[in-house]
Amino acid sequence: MAAEIIAVTQQKGGVGKSTIAMHLGAAFHEKGKRVLVVDADGQNTLIHWASASSGDVGIPFHVVNLSEAGSQIHREIKKFVADYDIIVVDCPPSITEKVSGVVLLAASVAVIPTSSSPADYWSSIGLVKLVQQAQVMNEDLRAVFLLNKTEEKRMLTRELKRALEELGFPLLKTQIPTREAYKQAMALGQTVLQMNDRGAKLAAIEVRACANEIAALLP
Ligand SMILES: Nc1ncnc2c1ncn2[C@@H]1O[C@H](COP(=O)(O)OP(=O)(O)O)[C@@H](O)[C@H]1O
Ligand SMILES: [Mg+2]
Repeated sequence: MAAEIIAVTQQKGGVGKSTIAMHLGAAFHEKGKRVLVVDADGQNTLIHWASASSGDVGIPFHVVNLSEAGSQIHREIKKFVADYDIIVVDCPPSITEKVSGVVLLAASVAVIPTSSSPADYWSSIGLVKLVQQAQVMNEDLRAVFLLNKTEEKRMLTRELKRALEELGFPLLKTQIPTREAYKQAMALGQTVLQMNDRGAKLAAIEVRACANEIAALLP
């Protein structure tokens, strides 16, 4: 069976696309899926991340660099679909380049990370349009917002949740708060699923819950 493609995409940098892409990969890998994570962003965060580990505790699934493929990336991804169950694509921040658009044409689910900053909300508006354009051709494409780096008690988050829902795509129930563990994971070349401190354990629960919600959207 061909792999399902999950696109992690947002216009802005720094919202957690790479963090979420790698951790979704980790959670699906833990479920026993054959996972490929694609680094489609020229910043190559995931490639650096995967090579940051020391010893044998590295990233336990494949991470491939397709950031040079540009608007041909869907062709490159196609070469892998027979060999994997899940392909998570970490898309580049800009929607002016064609990469996110073509990935969305092949994807089953678009995950749109956003923090509670108004700037993220505004860039989500552009992303919604891009997803809707892709849905004209790819009718089965589902899209969800994922609140990252949240502080639940803040008014802004509640306001933002409502505003996001009005944009037309559902918000995942699971939110990812700001946790040092996510930063540490990147620095250590691991994911929070492999780490043992309390913060990482809480993070692992969130990451698994997030992946379960996304798994429920897959055909
Ligand atoms: N939930 C989180 N808690 C703490 N730090 C986070 C969280 N999500 C992302 N970060 C950090 O924020 C920075 C940007 O995240 P990154 O995943 O690289 O974003 P993007 O890929 O959208 O540019 C990184 O230093 C990352 O470790
Ligand atoms: Mg990134």
